Amino acid sequence: MRKSIIKGMGFYVPERVVTNADLEKIMDTSDAWIQERTGIRERRWVEPGKDTTSGMGVKAARMAIEQAGLSPSDIDFIVFATLSPDYYFPGPGVQVQEALEIDTIGALDVRNQCSGFVYGLSVADQYIRTGMYDNILVIGSELHSGGLDKTTRGRNVSVIFGDGAGAAVLSASPSDERGILSTHLHSEGKHARELALIGPSTQKWVDEILTQNDPDYTDYYPYMNGNFVFKHAVTRFPEVIREALDQNGLNASDIKLLVPHQANLRISQFVQRSMGLSDDQVYSNIMRYGNTTAASIPIALCEAIMEGKVKEGDLVCLAAFGSGFTWASALMNW
Ligand code: ACO
Repeated sequence: MRKSIIKGMGFYVPERVVTNADLEKIMDTSDAWIQERTGIRERRWVEPGKDTTSGMGVKAARMAIEQAGLSPSDIDFIVFATLSPDYYFPGPGVQVQEALEIDTIGALDVRNQCSGFVYGLSVADQYIRTGMYDNILVIGSELHSGGLDKTTRGRNVSVIFGDGAGAAVLSASPSDERGILSTHLHSEGKHARELALIGPSTQKWVDEILTQNDPDYTDYYPYMNGNFVFKHAVTRFPEVIREALDQNGLNASDIKLLVPHQANLRISQFVQRSMGLSDDQVYSNIMRYGNTTAASIPIALCEAIMEGKVKEGDLVCLAAFGSGFTWASALMNW
């Protein structure tokens, strides 16, 4: 069976830089607290009305398609991962199809939050392996800033998240040596409400939300049980990375570059230590962009490639953990 390979990558982040000092002006927080707990120095937040989740995805996708040496008409299928779509429905996959003026190809939306890009990559990998499609666009894009509680009440969540998009073109590999070796997907729904946004939804109708006069009503903002998420993340990340290595008879020392979901620098450092990896083996850019959920892995991988950290034949591991809980990994020979 043929393998799939990442043929091109792209990313886009909004121009507007929001530093920790900027946040100090709108809520009771400090640069020292944010850096010490998360490693984040700044993030990008859209200029309201200027960027959208689908629009950022399209910009990242154009770069990925160009880098792959293809044109939009070569794309056979779109997979779009996000937790912050432009609309409640339809999902943004179809908006990419429209914007890129691609013929009536299929467009699939993935709802797996921080694991969304790896889940999307896994889906695309199966289609390429079976020969159903040759070139698939996988996008992760998030516009968090419009939906965060930017007051002191929401500071434990809102300082962490940033906006941006990343994309990859997955194509049939020209050789058996290169390409995705395996992907590994997991979930544990009993923790769904530990990191969630409950309304508006079919459980919290808009009417109900709009008629709430309770100033403490926060169901329309993301909720995160931070300590609980942290504990699970530092267990599941190493577990799913080891699962990928074991399946392929490889060791942590074989990894050239681990690109973890940029959840929090402390989580990445914990994973690095527990896997016995060196600083050179783990990529981090959370200090510049914050946590961009489904976009964080493709943005980080794209930057790593641009910085020359990944060369042909290198073993690259992607790993994610997040809301659901869901977690996932992908191992590939670049
Ligand atoms: N600025 C200043 N103080 C703050 C802030 C803030 N932005 N946020 C919370 N605090 C305060 C709290 O109110 C609390 O004050 P108190 O002691 O007076 O009650 C104090 O800081 C400590 O709060 P904790 O929640 O216990 O802080 P903790 O050390 O656990 O750090 C954090 C919080 C960073 C969220 C941590 O739990 C964490 O790293 N969790 C992992 C979750 C994560 O990374 N999520 C990313 C998104 S999910 C994902 O991508 C997987």
